[in-house]
This record gives sequence, structure tokens and C-alpha cells, in this order.
Amino acid sequence: MTAKILSVFSMKGGVGKTVISVNLALSLAKLKNNPKVIIIDLNLYSGDVCSSLNLKPQWTISDVAENIDFYSPLDMEKILTQYSPNVKVLAAPLHPELAETITPDIIHKVLSILTEVADYIVIDCPAFFNQVILAAVEHVDRFLLIATVDLLAIKSALICLQTLQLLNYPQRKIKFILNRSKSKVGISDKEIERSLGVIIWATIPSDKAVPTSVNMGLPLVDNFPKSPVGRSFARLAFHIRNDFAGEKKMKKNRGGEAA
Ligand SMILES: Nc1ncnc2c1ncn2[C@@H]1O[C@H](COP(=O)(O)OP(=O)(O)O)[C@@H](O)[C@H]1O
Ligand SMILES: [Mg+2]
Repeated sequence: MTAKILSVFSMKGGVGKTVISVNLALSLAKLKNNPKVIIIDLNLYSGDVCSSLNLKPQWTISDVAENIDFYSPLDMEKILTQYSPNVKVLAAPLHPELAETITPDIIHKVLSILTEVADYIVIDCPAFFNQVILAAVEHVDRFLLIATVDLLAIKSALICLQTLQLLNYPQRKIKFILNRSKSKVGISDKEIERSLGVIIWATIPSDKAVPTSVNMGLPLVDNFPKSPVGRSFARLAFHIRNDFAGEKKMKKNRGGEAA
């Protein structure tokens, strides 16, 4: 297996990174052939992926960090917290002081091992770049940039895009997702696309089913799968799968031309 790695990022808190990470991961796991999906919680100071899924992790990334050089893919799987047969979580440390023990080198090793035991890895990121996040981003196949429909979130998305450009990050990997779309707040989709210079690749509508599910500790796509927001996550999962399938086809065709 070689997992496709997706990071869910924004430089602003509260835009829906965790909601999207969790519900996207679950929706990918519901695709045909039941792909194996791992969510990595890189909010090392206060991760909330496990709480969103009502899970109590026995092990976390800080346990991995201590022994990483001795880990096989099988050992690594045992450290994950299981949500369903094909969704597992690499939990964030249980105490913030443990965050400091996670180095970029550990992230490189963790991702190289986990990529062998999953079809998709979804990384829930914090609202900043640091060496650890940059290490993860090096492995990423699709950088999902999230913003909500408000000026501050759009401004922070622009800063993020400029930062990625400075880092020479491949533009084709960046996909912009507008969360809480259709909120009538006086900014049109066209205006957002014009100010960011990217297209809106996917949208997730605003729905009170989202906070209701968070408060119940039940992920939305399991709780309200037929709601408009539930369907938008299913669509996003399809879109991602098709995007990778299209890329594979293109590479194959190019290979054919070269031969
Ligand atoms: N599409 C949405 N509709 C309604 N509420 C949302 C939506 N997406 C996120 N939220 C709410 O916004 C809050 C922040 O979401 P969260 O995923 O924790 O943000 P982040 O991880 O970016 O800090 C949560 O309370 C969540 O319920
Ligand atoms: Mg979060």
C-alpha cells in the first residue's frame, strides 16, 4: 500500500479543520472497496480528533516518539486508536508538555511507516506552520486549504498561499475548500476566487447539524449522512478519489507517450 496523504490546514482557528478532517476521513472510508483510512492529529498541544469521535486513546504519538527506530508497520498499527474497522487515529499527546518531544524526524518516520498500512492518511493540522508541520507537508499529496466565508479567514488563506509560494510548494497539490459556504454575509464566491487567485475546489455548507454532532461526540457523516452537509462530505471524498484516479491516468498516458 502507498497511502495518499491529505493535510487539512488553515492559519486560522475555528474554520472547521477538525470537523473536515474527521468527516472527510469517514467519508473516504465509505467509498467502494472500503479504503483503510488513518487520521493523524497534529494538534500536538490540544488535539481533539479523539474527542470528536468519542474515543479514549490508550497510546498517542508521544509513545511512538520514544521508540520510533524499532517500529515496524505492524507495531505502528497497534498504537493507533480504532474508530471503525477501517478508520484509525494516531492521537495527539494527552499532555501539552509532551508536544515538544515530537520532532520533524519523528514525523518523517511516522509518515513513511503509516503510508504502508493505509489507503488514505488525513492530517488534522494546527493553525500555524512550524518545523513539524513543514515536515508533514513534505509528504502530502493534497494540501487542503480551508477558509470560511469571512474576510479574516480569506485574508489568512491568502497569507497561507503566499507562504506556500515562498516555500516553492507545488501549486497543483493545493486545493481550496470553502467551509460554511452559502452563509449570506456579503462576499460572493467569485470575489473570493478573485482575491485568492485560486478556484473553490469544494464547498461545505453551514449547518447546525455540525455543532450538534460535535456536542454529541458523534461524527456528522454517521449521525446525519443524508443532510446537505453530510452529502457534501460524501461528494468531497468522491472528488478526491477521482482526482487521484485522473492523475494516475494522466501519468500512465504520459508514460505511454514516452515509450
Ligand atoms: N460547516 C459547518 N457548519 C456549522 N458549523 C461548523 C461547520 N464547520 C465547523 N463548524 C463549527 O465551527 C467550530 C470550529 O470547528 P473546528 O473543526 O473545531 O475548527 P478548527 O479545527 O479549524 O479550529 C465547531 O464548533 C464546529 O461545530
Ligand atoms: Mg481543530
